[in-house]
Amino acid sequence: MNTIKKAFKGSAFHTKEYGKLEFLEDVLIKVDSNGIISEIVNKDNKNYEEELIYAKNNYEFVELSDGEYFLPGFVDLHVHAPQWPQAGMALDEPLNVWLDECTFPLEAKYSDINFAREVYTDLVTQYLARGTTTAMYFATIHNEASLELAKICAKLGQRGLVGKVVMDDPVMNPDFYRDKSTSEALDNTEKFILDVKKVAENCIQGVYPVITPRFVPSCTDEALLGLGKLAKKYNTYVQSHCSEGQWEHDFVKERFGKRDTEVLEKFGLLGKKSVMAHCNFLNEEDGEIFAKTGTAVGHCPISNSYFANAVLPVKRLKSQGVDIGLGTDISGGFSPSLYENIRHAVMVSRMLEDGVDAKKCSCERGVSNSRISVIEAFYLATTGGGESLQLPLGKIEKGYICDLQVIDTKAKNNILSDFGVFPKKEHLLQKIIYLATVENIKEVYVQGNLVHKK
Ligand code: GUN
Ligand code: FE
Repeated sequence: MNTIKKAFKGSAFHTKEYGKLEFLEDVLIKVDSNGIISEIVNKDNKNYEEELIYAKNNYEFVELSDGEYFLPGFVDLHVHAPQWPQAGMALDEPLNVWLDECTFPLEAKYSDINFAREVYTDLVTQYLARGTTTAMYFATIHNEASLELAKICAKLGQRGLVGKVVMDDPVMNPDFYRDKSTSEALDNTEKFILDVKKVAENCIQGVYPVITPRFVPSCTDEALLGLGKLAKKYNTYVQSHCSEGQWEHDFVKERFGKRDTEVLEKFGLLGKKSVMAHCNFLNEEDGEIFAKTGTAVGHCPISNSYFANAVLPVKRLKSQGVDIGLGTDISGGFSPSLYENIRHAVMVSRMLEDGVDAKKCSCERGVSNSRISVIEAFYLATTGGGESLQLPLGKIEKGYICDLQVIDTKAKNNILSDFGVFPKKEHLLQKIIYLATVENIKEVYVQGNLVHKK
């Protein structure tokens, strides 16, 4: 058994079940030397006072002040790390034009390791400051720079899942930015997997290699097949984009006579450790394939509003048993904050339900029974992300990894006050989710260790 090393005392919010908020009042969270929660001592436990005194005297002890709360660290399932310099710009073109004209020239710059180091260090720092303790990253085609991202996550204390991107089709990708051949793409992926596993040996919070075909249109059949085989050989994570927008969905249908989901399954790229970004065009059958294979959806609501031509049917996919988490999708999404993506996930689900064209009769304007609550969206950013990655993340519970954000609702100049009018704790959480800024995130812990302090 691991010894207890640390204890956190304060009130916390989390969602153990989808849509059910739990408030833990003044609990003592005991954490072992591996950063795993070993016990939660409730206020009504008869040994509570004794336990508190013991913890203060014997463990590293973190005690929240009045107005401070713990939230679980956020899990971001979809980030394009190299696109950080263009976050917030160039969002007016359709996806395929945006990739060719803006994104590929930017990503090509990561052949320069010094540039990569500078950008990636800032990105991981900014994500941690926004409470994102776990992130699944697309890097670029370059092994050295992609490995650098894994090293930076390890060093700065973020749990990083990192993929060297594969895009080997000479017809679909520009000469200045693609894998030089299919065999080189596969060899470099295998080397990358082994190199990240080495970095992981000295990293308590974990860094993981991810097999990363950019999306079906950018890869040859041979690459997709080879990557599926590597996923099996190393039992690694897999990530890609799936049925993101109309263009991608139609392109794949045209090339294979099948839907994206069917193609990815055929090549061995769906499974319990697979996360597919976007997925807006999944039909019922695709949802069943996702549920059956254990493949998760990385829902990127802000990005989808620009590039997807549709709104993800979260409610339908959840009811089919699909794991779903949230993604910022920098820079298709402009914001590095999962808070903003939680808010947007709620708003677009309302638009899906109600419809958007007032000229149409309300009876045929939207897709009924589509809205999700802010608590459900909070679940997606925490527990849903953990489920998607098959990691014990998102709950403040025995056996779970101790990843926490400390929210200071009394931070200077903040707008969270309810002026003492609303006593319900759920309302407080709603205010935090909708109105908190980076100023309210006082501290962030990953695997029990402090990784960010405001
Ligand atoms: N599909 C293929 N590449 C990308 C990308 O970089 N961003 C988004 N949003 N979709 C993609
Ligand atoms: Fe993306």
